[in-house]
Amino acid sequence: MKSYDISEPFYSNFSINPEIEWQMSRAEKYCLIHLLENINPEYSIEIGTYKGGSLQVLSKYSKKVYSIDVDSEPKNKLQNLFKNVTFKVGKSHEIIHNVINEIESKNGKLNFILVDGDHSKNGVKKDLECILSHNFKHPLTVILHDSFNPQCRLGMKSVEYKKYNFIEHIDLDYIHGCFSPNKNYKEMWGGFAIISINPKIKKSSSKINQSQEMLYNTIYRNSIHVIKDKLLFLKPFKKLFNLNK
Ligand SMILES: C[S@@+](CC[C@H](N)C(=O)[O-])C[C@H]1O[C@@H](n2cnc3c(N)ncnc32)[C@H](O)[C@@H]1O
Repeated sequence: MKSYDISEPFYSNFSINPEIEWQMSRAEKYCLIHLLENINPEYSIEIGTYKGGSLQVLSKYSKKVYSIDVDSEPKNKLQNLFKNVTFKVGKSHEIIHNVINEIESKNGKLNFILVDGDHSKNGVKKDLECILSHNFKHPLTVILHDSFNPQCRLGMKSVEYKKYNFIEHIDLDYIHGCFSPNKNYKEMWGGFAIISINPKIKKSSSKINQSQEMLYNTIYRNSIHVIKDKLLFLKPFKKLFNLNK
């Protein structure tokens, strides 16, 4: 299967740094730029820095950004490039509380969070629960990348949203994803889920909208995940016997 770049061609006033790899599709890139240009956050948080692709947009449209990655390489490579970004190294669920508390202790307005770190079901769930457990004082948009990936989506669906306050809207298919067009063909990736937090609303919503559920289910039936997800129980053994190498 021929490799194909689903992020090109791309036309925007936003000048993307061509040296920085950005792991998102065209639709996601357009969406992220437009969202951030309009929200104009005072503070943003990113989970999953990687090569700095999405970070270049967060950095441009936010006054201040915290970017978290479990790997120290992104910090070492990018800290001189993005002056308004504080890099944090470590597991997101161990760091995110302190970052949010740090912003709140400065009376800062946290208006945007991008979740794009640990893509396992439990990883996504843990990140979301850590975020939602805060009682936010300002409107906040949370975007979760890869809501079209079955494990990420399960993580998003397994959160008990009714436990949390100020949720105005949840949609797992704010931007829908696709089949990965490259060598892992028939794997489902991409997509943006959105969770809007609004401290002014009277009643929090726990309804998980899936505006492209039918598309998701149709694609799922034709995907490799039908088999792959059934074999997930073998993952610990794979690690045990070092079969990844
Ligand atoms: C898909 S990449 C992020 C892509 C980037 N946002 C972009 O748009 O180009 C995922 C990143 O999350 C990091 N990561 C994985 N698990 C993590 C965790 N538990 N905490 C923090 N970062 C994690 C990985 O090291 C990797 O750099």
